[in-house]
Amino acid sequence: MELTAFPQKIVFIASDHAGFALKNALTAYLTPLGWQVQDIGTHSKTSCDYPDFANALCLAMQDSGNPGILVCGTGIGMSMAANRHKHIRAAVCTHEFHAEACRLHNNANVICLGERVTAEGLACRLVHLFLTTPFEGGRHTRRLEGML
Ligand code: RB5
Repeated sequence: MELTAFPQKIVFIASDHAGFALKNALTAYLTPLGWQVQDIGTHSKTSCDYPDFANALCLAMQDSGNPGILVCGTGIGMSMAANRHKHIRAAVCTHEFHAEACRLHNNANVICLGERVTAEGLACRLVHLFLTTPFEGGRHTRRLEGML
């Protein structure tokens, strides 16, 4: 399927040490599909703190309209840190339905994955769904507007 939900085909990606290998695998998956992958780090397996990289990715995204991918051990810490930012709607995804529904209903702009939870092949599939599924709008817009 053509990757169309984010037409600029620019995606930000970041991880901590526990998500480093999956970050690299996702970059290798997306690049041949024509995505410009902006790697915010980390750049090695040396132990580091996931909020530093979640914050850096959220700041890099600004209001660009381009999506983000965050990877840590579970995806949970990254999502907690990312969702502190007003312009971010980050969703932890472990199932294909998560990846589809977080776009259709929640207009998620960041997908969070856990390298210790999700195998590489499924992670690529989840990212594919996240990047290709449009937001449905309608009643979901009102619900998103209800968030503080
Ligand atoms: C690092 O050991 C781990 O705690 C981190 O990657 C993440 O899973 C936190 O939510």
